[in-house]
Amino acid sequence: MATYRTICTTRDIPEGQARMFVVGDMMFGIFNIGGEFFALDNRCPHAGASLAHGYIEGDTVACRIHHWRFRIRDGKHLDTNRSEKCARTFPLRIVGDEIQVAW
Ligand code: FES
Repeated sequence: MATYRTICTTRDIPEGQARMFVVGDMMFGIFNIGGEFFALDNRCPHAGASLAHGYIEGDTVACRIHHWRFRIRDGKHLDTNRSEKCARTFPLRIVGDEIQVAW
């Protein structure tokens, strides 16, 4: 069963930006889009580049390496309908000012 764990605080991620966090063998990209926070597997499903270091525009992020585009809210790969190209997402909740992610 997935357990929520604190990753960072809401103050760590300015609006319209993302940060990478490593917890054990997990690597998360936490995104702040208009004051809403989302957690993605930080490794691009194409070849593993950091999505937190991608180009954020509105609610999408484009990988820096080969420019695959993902919808941040649900990880959907925006250039195809192929689920294997989607970024993995994780449940996220805010407790006080802590951002907690479940995996
Ligand atoms: S590593 Fe992300 S698109 Fe290739």
